[in-house]
Amino acid sequence: MRKSQLELKGKTVLVTAGPTQEPLDPIRFISNRSSGKMGYAVALAALKFGAKVILISGPTHLSSPQGVNLVRIVTARELREAVLKHFPKADVVVAAAAVADYRPESKAARKIRKEGRRELTIRLVRNPDILRELGKTKGDKILVGFAAETGQMITNAREKLKKKNLDLIVANDVTKKGSGFEVDTNIVSIISRDGKIISLPKLSKTRVAERILREAVKIIKNTERTT
Ligand code: PMT
Repeated sequence: MRKSQLELKGKTVLVTAGPTQEPLDPIRFISNRSSGKMGYAVALAALKFGAKVILISGPTHLSSPQGVNLVRIVTARELREAVLKHFPKADVVVAAAAVADYRPESKAARKIRKEGRRELTIRLVRNPDILRELGKTKGDKILVGFAAETGQMITNAREKLKKKNLDLIVANDVTKKGSGFEVDTNIVSIISRDGKIISLPKLSKTRVAERILREAVKIIKNTERTT
């Protein structure tokens, strides 16, 4: 193994991955598209870089990566609880999860019947913005967010970086072929706080994960040099 690949030795990396599911009744839920592949690739890359890895994952079909502390959650509120529990141990957080921004206001105890109904209105309420909450108390932890976008990718991603007080944001144009949900490749731009943009070509999610972690390592080294 190359020395550069152990640059997170002694560090703990917390990764979120996959979708959240917000129940409507015992049978149905609303959710976001996400296979978990991008987040799991980050978790495995962090392991290869020598880090201790906590992977908090929504429901996926992926097998549990060996050597990673896997915490399974279903809803955004469960994700928040798990993230807040493990956050104090983390040096780096990479939030790749596709969190549902809204959830049904209430969960019906029994299956909602369609008989006698031509329409059904579901009232949704906002879920907590977990990353924004972390940004408020981040200290010297490195926070990396993702931004799944369908237009004005860089502008929207920069806004999220600022609003959530992140160190890096990975802008993900999910409209391009070979990019975003479910596929094994991704096309992203990594944006730093100082405005630097690294636009990557189509790469495997493994390679994308390594590039993201390399940028995080650079920030850690800079911080350690100046303190
Ligand atoms: O899982 P795959 O199939 O491999 O697909 C990968 C992906 C496209 C899901 C992934 O690369 C990606 O872009 N993930 C973020 C998707 C997203 O919904 O981003 P967002 O723009 O809604 O959220 C911005 C950031 O805030 C994200 O880091 C998100 O985890 C976080 N967030 C969002 C909402 C919320 N309520 N709480 C949060 O913490």
